[in-house]
Amino acid sequence: MIKDKIGGQILAPMAGITGFPFRKISLKYGAEFCFTEMISADGFLHNDKATLELTEAGKDIDATGIQLFGSVPDALALAAKKAADKGFKVIDINMGCPVKKVVKTGAGSAILKDGKKFFLIAEAVRHAVKDCIFTIKTRSGFDENSVNFIEIGKIAESCGVDAIFFHPRTRAMMFGGAADHSLTKRLKDALAIPVYASGDVFTVESALKIKKNTGADGVMFARGAIGKPWIFAEHSRAALSGAEGAPAAAGSADTTALELKRKIDIIIELMEEMSLFYGKERGCGLIRPHLYNLLKGFRGSKELRRSVNDAKSGKELANILKTLSEGDFFLDNNDNAVDII
Ligand SMILES: Cc1cc2nc3c(=O)[nH]c(=O)nc-3n(C[C@H](O)[C@H](O)[C@H](O)COP(=O)(O)O)c2cc1C
Repeated sequence: MIKDKIGGQILAPMAGITGFPFRKISLKYGAEFCFTEMISADGFLHNDKATLELTEAGKDIDATGIQLFGSVPDALALAAKKAADKGFKVIDINMGCPVKKVVKTGAGSAILKDGKKFFLIAEAVRHAVKDCIFTIKTRSGFDENSVNFIEIGKIAESCGVDAIFFHPRTRAMMFGGAADHSLTKRLKDALAIPVYASGDVFTVESALKIKKNTGADGVMFARGAIGKPWIFAEHSRAALSGAEGAPAAAGSADTTALELKRKIDIIIELMEEMSLFYGKERGCGLIRPHLYNLLKGFRGSKELRRSVNDAKSGKELANILKTLSEGDFFLDNNDNAVDII
């Protein structure tokens, strides 16, 4: 069963966010499975150095899927085969990226405009990696006039795609408006293969609600996990206890000082992992989206974020975090701390 391999709570692919260190920490603190950010099939095939760095998975390779993007069926199939040879057992093709730079090459959500191309890609990749789990991540359509997710889902199923990660926004919506999970339910009801929900999974409560309302096989945490990798552990605790409501989220008013200290320690651990993997300077830059998202919930967050902006070293950043756990700043609810794109 696919679900036995990838579980029910997954770290979504996020460009610039889900590098090796954040994946490692998310898995350590409760994610059952995770994805690399989208990786150019061409860059991977040409052994581009920056691209290869994105494929690093170390000992976590069995719990890591690689996400590839491209528009040429043969190139995607070759890249998928190369990923399988490297040890990846789950290969995902990005069929939903809305970014102009990607769409204009015919990749990402552009593939949704062309059912034939979708079929050719799915068929070629399936053929190339028969022994791997092959998934796609997609949106509800290209724009409001071409909402074709059921048709796309059926083609995927007929080609032997093993599961679909579904973000129910059109490409035209980018990240605006609300993810319409009534569409996730429709897709789930229409297909026999597993369907995972992505989109506005910002809190444990939203994850539980979306899963219950859609019957989805699992949820993907994306923006909701940035700066808050413990969300996975909180989600599985709540799911196991059958709780409809969520336990305290980081930054919510009832987060205890002890919990807060533990969470800050996890972020400091993430900073250390980033510094090891990327070097001090790059690590210091790449931790910032996590800190911004985390800090949004704190009283005085504007000031705090300004100090994060001004900080010149990992040490200064760590000191800012430490002042939080010493209790100078108390917490507001940060359930909406998600507008990082
Ligand atoms: C910064 C950022 C980068 C993203 N990069 C990718 C990507 O590389 N591949 C992909 O399939 N989706 C990508 N996404 C989309 C997310 O995986 C997810 O589907 C989307 O954010 C909706 O979930 P959310 O509303 O819970 O954040 C990205 C999203 C964000 C915010």
